[in-house]
Parts: sequence; structure tokens; C-alpha cells
Amino acid sequence: MVQYTRPKGTQDILPEDQPYWEHLIAVVSEIACNYGFERIDVPIFEMTELFTRGLGEATDAVEKEMYAFKDKGGRDIALRPEFTAGVIRAYIENGLQVWPKPVKLYSTGPAFRYEEPQAGRYRQLHQFNAEILGIDSPLADLEVMSLAWDIFEALGLENLSFQINSTGCPQCRPSYVETLQAHYHVHHDVICQDCQRRLVQNPLRLLDCKRDQCQPVIATAPRIIEMLCEGCAEHFAELREYLDALSKPYTLNHRLVRGLDYYTKTVFEVWAEGIGAQAAVCGGGRYDGLVALLGGPPTPAVGFAAGIERVVMVMQDQATEVPSPPYPPIYLAFLGAASRLYAVQLLTDIRQAGLAAQISMGGSLRSQLRHADRRDAKLTIIIGEDELDRGEVTLRNMVSGEQTMVPVARVVSTLKTALQT
Ligand code: HAM
Repeated sequence: MVQYTRPKGTQDILPEDQPYWEHLIAVVSEIACNYGFERIDVPIFEMTELFTRGLGEATDAVEKEMYAFKDKGGRDIALRPEFTAGVIRAYIENGLQVWPKPVKLYSTGPAFRYEEPQAGRYRQLHQFNAEILGIDSPLADLEVMSLAWDIFEALGLENLSFQINSTGCPQCRPSYVETLQAHYHVHHDVICQDCQRRLVQNPLRLLDCKRDQCQPVIATAPRIIEMLCEGCAEHFAELREYLDALSKPYTLNHRLVRGLDYYTKTVFEVWAEGIGAQAAVCGGGRYDGLVALLGGPPTPAVGFAAGIERVVMVMQDQATEVPSPPYPPIYLAFLGAASRLYAVQLLTDIRQAGLAAQISMGGSLRSQLRHADRRDAKLTIIIGEDELDRGEVTLRNMVSGEQTMVPVARVVSTLKTALQT
């Protein structure tokens, strides 16, 4: 027999992990709504071109990691590697650009990247994502960063660090890139092969290299925030003023560049301790050119996405308490065929009365009670044939072990009263 296994880089989210996921998504929805964000859901797949154009052809997400294929109609389709491009496509296609600004949208769901899997890095990953469209003021940057902050705080996460930088704009970035390339040309012989390629194809990513041999070159590299144009410099200074005034601690990280091409001005990440190499639980920034690039009117925008698997890893690592979904408090056990039919009818009555109940699927009384116990039942109704002939069932309090006889006509009302006390 073939043993089926889940595809590489995917995960089963088992019942024991679900309370973390449910709690996280409930917190995200609640806080996003409190901040005035509205939910949007976009397709899991889009035309491939949307991502190649939106994220940039030379990015890893597009060049190496995209799940792209032709559908049966010959269309080029890709599974979304992230949400932003699809959200912007929906914003333009559905006329959201005429809404009063800012337009604030959030989403949660899966995304797909053909990466080499390791702890915290998957091929099917899940994100919660938030975008603010139509505002160029750093107040919008502050708003998305605060949203991330508040969500992590509400989840009780500790030891997180906010990393921020500015990556300039099409006006000031080219001269920075030239200066960076000039610096790297001097050290061309000592840098790794990947960096030799990045030097030509994606120079900003040079700052992101983790190889030892490249660290001294990064350490002495020119800093972009010293070469920002007036507009970008003012924007970044104003954002930092807000963060300082609100006592939001952050690290100014001159090496922070992001993996997608659409970013302008502010970029930020949130890093967590204790979950290994894949420490970025959240990443985002401003992307003032993307809406126009994808065919909409020029629209400034800023947003972030957080990796749900990584956030759950932090919650579990830090033993965060999460509410567990309650088991049904009522359990029905029965002995004999006649009792079974009555049990099924009684179950329907109990559920119609608005009480949560589950029924045994048979077996000895002992094994049924064991199951009731494992399922955390508070009250078990035991239906035996002799008792049923007398018009009664047994009500067992699973906590005290006490048993009482209840007339069949009064079972539902007795359960209601017992659950209220
Ligand atoms: P990103 O940095 O590519 O940004 O991803 C955001 C977060 O998703 C990461 O910080 C990480 O927690 C999680 N993540 C990414 N790849 C994986 C993976 N293979 N396995 C597990 N988790 C992963 C974006 O996706 C942008 N769209 C964010 C954004 C929204 N920028 C502006 N608006």
C-alpha cells in the first residue's frame, strides 16, 4: 500500500494547534476592526503577470519560488506568494479608488512559496496582512506599525524587536545604488558568488547577505538614510518622531532591505527571539508606486504581513495562554438497541433546546463513560433499557460521580438547570 505523506513544505494544523490559530485570527480581526480596517478576501491564484510585474521579476519570490503553471485553458496562473499584489488588483478592479481615503484593508489566509523548507519556513504559509491606501503621510506608516504592535501585544508576545529603515524612492535610490555598487566593486574578489550576482541584478539585497565573508563589506557599506532626498528624509524623520513620542522602541537597521521590489521609503520588520533562523514574524513598508504600476491612479500605500506559523511558534515557545474551544458539556451513553433509538431522539431534543451535546457511538458502559470523561463532559445521560421501560434515565455528574434518576419528560429542563448551576 502506498503511504501518502503531506507535500514537502506543508503542514497539518492538528486539533491541538487549532486554539492558537483561532485565537490569533480572532485577535487580528478584532484589533483590525477596532482600527477601522475592513476585511477583503482575494483569490488564492491570480494571473502570473500580476506577481511578476508587481513584486519584480528579479525577486526570489517570483524568480525562484513561484508556483506558476498553465491552467487547462492555457492561461498563465500562479498561486499567490503574498497578498499585496492581489489586494491592489482588487482595489483597482472594483473601483475602491473612489472611496474616501484612507482605504484600510486586512486579510488572512494561505500563500505559497517554493522555498527550501526548514523550521518557520514553509511552501504553504499563512499570513495576516494589512494595507492602508491613499495616504502619503507617515501617519499611515505609524498606523500599520501600531496595528502590528497592538496585535503582538494582545497576543502576549515578548522579546520582539522592531527594525526600521528607509529604502528611498525612485528619485534618490538610484544614486544610492550606484554608490553601493562602487563600494562593492572595490571588494568584488572577497564577496560571495550570490553577492556577485546581486551586485548586478538586485544590488539592495547585498545588504541582506548572511555569509561571513560579506559581513565586513556590509559593515563599511554606505548608508541609505544618509543619501535620501529631502522628501524621503522628512518622511522618515517624521515617522521616527511619532515612534519616539509614543515610546515605541525600535532599532534603526541600516541593513534592512526587503525581498520585494515594490517598496519605497519606510520598510520595517518585527523579529522574535527563540524560534531559530527564521526570526522575522512580520515585514512590510510603504509602496507608493505599486498601484500605478498595476494600472491604477497614482496612490501612496503602506502595509505589512505577518507569518501566522511563525507567530504561533512564538506563542507556543513562550507558553502563551489561549482559550480552548469548549467541548459539549453533555454526553449521551446508552445500552441496548431500544435505548439507542431513544438516545438519538433525545439528542435531537437537547440540541434543539440550544444545548451542546454529543452521543456515544456504542460500546460497553465503561468505555462510553471513559470517552465522556476524555471529552470533558460535565453531565452524562445513561440510557438503560430497564430504566427506559420505567420512563426514566440516569443523570451522572461527571465531576462528583453522583447519579440521579430523571423522568424522560424532564430530561431537557433538568439538563438546562444543571448547567446553569
Ligand atoms: P514578506 O516579508 O515576504 O512580506 O512576508 C511577510 C511575513 O510572512 C514574513 O515576515 C514571515 O513571517 C512570513 N513568511 C514569509 N515567507 C514565509 C515562509 N516561506 N514560511 C513561513 N512564513 C513566511 C510580504 O509578504 C509583503 N506582502 C508584506 C507587505 C504587505 N508589504 C506591504 N504590504
